[in-house]
Amino acid sequence: MIPGPTTLPGAVVQALSRPATDIYHGPLHDVSLDCLQGLSELFGTKERPYIFTANGHGGWEAALCNTLSRGDRVLALESGLFAPHWAETAQTLGISIEILPGSWRRAVDCEALKDRLRADTNGSIRAILTTQVDTATGVLNDIPAIRGAIDSAGHDGLLMVDCIASLGSTIFQFDAWKVDVAVAASQKALMTPPGLAFHAVSQKARKAHLMAGLRTSYWDWSLRDRADHYFWHSGTPPVSLLFGFQAAIQLIREEGLTTVIARHDALAKAARAAVGRWSLSGGVELNVSTPGEQAAAVTVMRVPEGTARPLVDYCKQTFGVLFGEGIGALEGMAIRIGHMGHVGAPQLIGALGCLELGMRAIGVACKPGGIEAALVALEGLSRQKPQPAAVPVVEISTQKRGVL
Ligand SMILES: Cc1ncc(COP(=O)(O)O)c(C=O)c1O
Repeated sequence: MIPGPTTLPGAVVQALSRPATDIYHGPLHDVSLDCLQGLSELFGTKERPYIFTANGHGGWEAALCNTLSRGDRVLALESGLFAPHWAETAQTLGISIEILPGSWRRAVDCEALKDRLRADTNGSIRAILTTQVDTATGVLNDIPAIRGAIDSAGHDGLLMVDCIASLGSTIFQFDAWKVDVAVAASQKALMTPPGLAFHAVSQKARKAHLMAGLRTSYWDWSLRDRADHYFWHSGTPPVSLLFGFQAAIQLIREEGLTTVIARHDALAKAARAAVGRWSLSGGVELNVSTPGEQAAAVTVMRVPEGTARPLVDYCKQTFGVLFGEGIGALEGMAIRIGHMGHVGAPQLIGALGCLELGMRAIGVACKPGGIEAALVALEGLSRQKPQPAAVPVVEISTQKRGVL
């Protein structure tokens, strides 16, 4: 129950253990194509996505290197740990960074963003970095509202969104929301081991790419656009991870993306209902209490100082269930309940029950009845399968698209 890496479904485990195939010719090409098609469905884009053999940090670095130059400036929007952390990655590349200060309990303040961008009259900010979901705080940011703030400030910076914790658990519409670069990774709602990072890329970002001074051969979009499948991966493809990811995509398609997102919403509501009930004793509380700003992927519960580690340890040792401890400014002060990917009501209700028992055992004040509150919240979980949404079809060019 940590917020990633998450539990692997059996179908993914089986796919991971398939024997490797020819990396130059044959069916692996179609596996990559299917993974790219699946990504375009998840991102909501008709543009060609990219797959990197990397974790989320690699995906961050790739986004910066493909679009920016040493000396450029980026503005990171704080709503927790990860956007400022992304900015630190930028700093090591020689990019100058600025943090728009924000709360660890609230979404990005779009008015403050608008004001800051209006003041940037010479357009020195080349990119705006934000997370859709911050896994440290459980904050959900409103990406269309952030886009709106950038547009109404008349600012030309690239909008770069980290959806590492949100893709596959929360609606994301890359094209419709006019995002320029979206970064995701395999190990959270996408139910695949760590090791794959993903990009969606707008035409505007591609233009910036042509002028970018930080391009490197491994991350480079243009080099990955070459016709030969080997170059799509800048070398040997991550064969087993591709098999695993393809199986995960298939599971999402079978359930239907809309249903997957509804499931995550329902589970998050249930987790919040449980914490809400426990909090009536005053010992614990939701980190994010503003409706519309709460993540579907993870719920962060504040606990009395000094109890987070004993609680995590107790649940792990007694019940074999692992929760995340608070990180960053919430280290030692919070429990992170991951509910993304291959998770349903049975796991969540069981895990919440263990957490309630854990709190009682180590003496954290919690009003009983959290599980009942979660069950009531889950009653709304629709069993009807909605019509599948129309998905864009990505066209991967087999022509040489560009070189450095
Ligand atoms: C929102 C978010 N962004 C970025 C990262 C970093 O990803 P990775 O640890 O795969 O490098 C994480 C990891 O938990 C994350 O939750």
